[in-house]
Amino acid sequence: MTSPVRLALLGCGTVGSDVVRLLHEQSADLAARIGAPLEIAGIAVRRVGRDRGDLPVDPALFTTDPLGLIKRDDVDVVVEVVGGIEPARTWLVEALRAGKSVVTANKALLAEDGATLHDAAAEGGADLYYEASVAGAIPLLRPLRESLHGDRINRVTGIVNGTTNFILSAMDATGAGFAEALEEATELGYAEADPTADVEGFDAAAKAAILASLAFHTRVTAADVHREGITEVTAADVASAKAMGCTIKLLCIAARGADAAGRETVSVRVHPAMIPLAHPLAGVGDAFNAVFVEAEAAGQLMFYGRGAGGAPTASAVLGDVVAVARNRLAGVHAASESAYADLPVRPMGEALTRYHVSLDVADRPGVLEAVAGVFARHEVSIATVRQGPAGGGSDAELVIVTHVAPDAALAATVGELRGLDIVRSVTSVLRVEGGA
Ligand code: NDP
Ligand code: HSE
Repeated sequence: MTSPVRLALLGCGTVGSDVVRLLHEQSADLAARIGAPLEIAGIAVRRVGRDRGDLPVDPALFTTDPLGLIKRDDVDVVVEVVGGIEPARTWLVEALRAGKSVVTANKALLAEDGATLHDAAAEGGADLYYEASVAGAIPLLRPLRESLHGDRINRVTGIVNGTTNFILSAMDATGAGFAEALEEATELGYAEADPTADVEGFDAAAKAAILASLAFHTRVTAADVHREGITEVTAADVASAKAMGCTIKLLCIAARGADAAGRETVSVRVHPAMIPLAHPLAGVGDAFNAVFVEAEAAGQLMFYGRGAGGAPTASAVLGDVVAVARNRLAGVHAASESAYADLPVRPMGEALTRYHVSLDVADRPGVLEAVAGVFARHEVSIATVRQGPAGGGSDAELVIVTHVAPDAALAATVGELRGLDIVRSVTSVLRVEGGA
């Protein structure tokens, strides 16, 4: 057996501690698969004295000096499971430029400034692997960047945030409140250090940028992604979705399209949407993730599994560690970033969507005509209208579902409806996806 491949582990929290556990439990198998044992050279954390339970690791390995650890001559591979933009970017650039391969779960950094990491990897002749950054345990990025490289991907639709899926599933199944479900997701280790990143859609937007970059061979950053979170989804929305035979999911949708001049574009968005119960993504509950990939030759592919949590994410991290360790022993590197297509990102206003709009309106003659007129003025075609009694005695509830129209036209329609006297309130506005 050749000499060990030595790892610097940056971070030993939810994910890092399971990386340590799996490295310990599977050391013999991992060594046999790689052809050399894996050894932890050091573990950088914020608090060396923190109680880490019965973690099977020598306490002398802990340090608060990540940069010093990365620079050590006996470190071959850097595994980053800390998160955030800085100082993680500085650490990883340092490692990559020094020719040390990097495995990271840091979607926020990859989506904010993946270009700098890819450039540093090319400069240092090092591998940059990040399977755990999107959809936890699900093998998804490797299929996109390797298995599907002979095909042309047209669309990627997915549930890529475990915390929000856990919350929406709980609201739908048990009527649980938002705050209560978020607290449980945090206790289970699904949520980000700041759960705003989950519930406001930042985490899913970062993952959407990573997926779109790989699927469309184009550098897409988090800033290019239209983002809406789930904080405004109410129990009434959930009930309204149920009444329509739908459920609400936080979706990430990345698609090829064309602009008015016929030039190819990409659009990338994250927002809550109603989908029919018959849709395969509707049954994805708890903190599970699922991603649909539609490719020209392969057709529809679906990837499903645990999208968050220590052990599932550590599984993806270790898969990458095995890959970079093997590459290192073989003296080869993975293919570098593929961003040759460089497609422009289309504004959200041009995205084609459908809307579900609930209105509390005055219950008197001419109201339906006036409301329908607003939709007509913005060239938004109505698919269905349902009227029922609303809260107040002289009010009615109108639920309107539209046909597909540009998002800007739908938004303008809702804006004008809000200004009408006969509309007491616009109680809910949700996009509808997937044939509902
Ligand atoms: P945690 O907050 O549980 O752990 C963070 C770790 O980083 C802790 O060990 C902490 O040290 C250490 N740390 C924080 N700041 C510093 C610093 N300045 N210098 C050195 N060490 C530092 O995070 P997670 O394990 O949940 O997440 C880690 C990464 O994995 C993030 O990028 C996250 O987005 C990603 N990820 C997480 C998933 C999950 O389900 N949790 C799933 C997929 C990806 P200390 O222990 O002393 O506090
Ligand atoms: N906070 C993230 C989630 C962790 O809930 O999906 C996995 O990336």
